[in-house]
Amino acid sequence: MKVLVTGGAGMLGRSLVPALVGADHDVTVTDIDLSAPTPWGPSGPVITELDVRERSSIADAFADVRPDLVVHLAAGTSLEFADANEDATYLTNTIATKYVALAARKHDAAMVYISTAGVFDGTKPSEVYNEYDQPNPLNVYGRTKYLGELMVKEFLERHYIIRAGWMVGGGRSKDHKFVAQILQQIRDGKTTLYAVGDKLGTPTYTPDFARTFLGLIDSELYGLYHMACGGRGSRFDVAARILDVLGMSDQIELVEVTSDHFAEEFPSVRPYSEIMRNMNLELQGMNHMRPWEVAIEEYLHNEFSDLIVKDRSAPTDASPSLMGA
Ligand SMILES: NC(=O)c1ccc[n+]([C@@H]2O[C@H](COP(=O)([O-])OP(=O)(O)OC[C@H]3O[C@@H](n4cnc5c(N)ncnc54)[C@H](OP(=O)(O)O)[C@@H]3O)[C@@H](O)[C@H]2O)c1
Repeated sequence: MKVLVTGGAGMLGRSLVPALVGADHDVTVTDIDLSAPTPWGPSGPVITELDVRERSSIADAFADVRPDLVVHLAAGTSLEFADANEDATYLTNTIATKYVALAARKHDAAMVYISTAGVFDGTKPSEVYNEYDQPNPLNVYGRTKYLGELMVKEFLERHYIIRAGWMVGGGRSKDHKFVAQILQQIRDGKTTLYAVGDKLGTPTYTPDFARTFLGLIDSELYGLYHMACGGRGSRFDVAARILDVLGMSDQIELVEVTSDHFAEEFPSVRPYSEIMRNMNLELQGMNHMRPWEVAIEEYLHNEFSDLIVKDRSAPTDASPSLMGA
């Protein structure tokens, strides 16, 4: 298929683009951020400019590429920026999504739109959200992403709306989320880390997401999907898993705190629970997301193996790391 990707320079694009190329799709990657236009090496796609807020640029890109499928990743993803810049966030996340959906309709292309577990208010008694639960976003980011979903549904028949959880991936250059923040504190030599225990969710490992996504777009089973790793946890649980995999649980103290601890740095309201079940993938036999604990272990081994503490009890330099190589 001819595939046009928007926002492809980000965390998710880092995994999705090579997966699409590896599956023999003809991929054109665009973004507003052109600071590293060849992240997949000299034989990979080169990122070209497309600001999805500009209707004429979208029209030009569709006319040039004539895609069978548009994968719309471009978004403003900072909750704090969204709350402080409401109009700008509606333009980027909601209205630009309408532009992309309308262009896809005009060119008879299917569309993938990536949404978020942040469309829910987190108050469901069972704490676990499936695709048949009613969204009720609490902040501007969640609201603009949910309204983007409605734009796609309204204007385009052949679409996949995929909700992701807490994104894990991107490696050294693109990870700007929780895992990268914890690793940076470890690199900075911190011996005490603080992590929130009163908010629940499901980490979403981008390579698992890419694998599951490829199966989904081949299926032509259009519709709404949750695509998060298996299991549930808090940021504290994720931090504990990181320390465990790195072999640092004995050296670094991990302190569980409430969200109030970080209220100044992260003032946006976040739902109590963003735990998602991939019910539609499961029921249609397409769920290839692994438990998040396994995914985090693989991520650290693949991208941050230099941080893994070697087994001091082993007799030679050639000994494996604590968790194996
Ligand atoms: N990160 C998460 O935890 C998470 C969770 C659930 C769903 N999602 C959704 O997944 C999708 C991919 O997110 P991600 O994690 O890869 O985020 P990301 O790393 O922030 O990537 C988004 C990319 O879109 C670009 N962008 C922003 N405004 C744009 C515009 N007007 N035109 C074109 N490109 C623009 C960004 O550039 P700049 O960096 O220069 O702004 C960035 O390169 C988004 O739709 C997001 O809402 C993310």
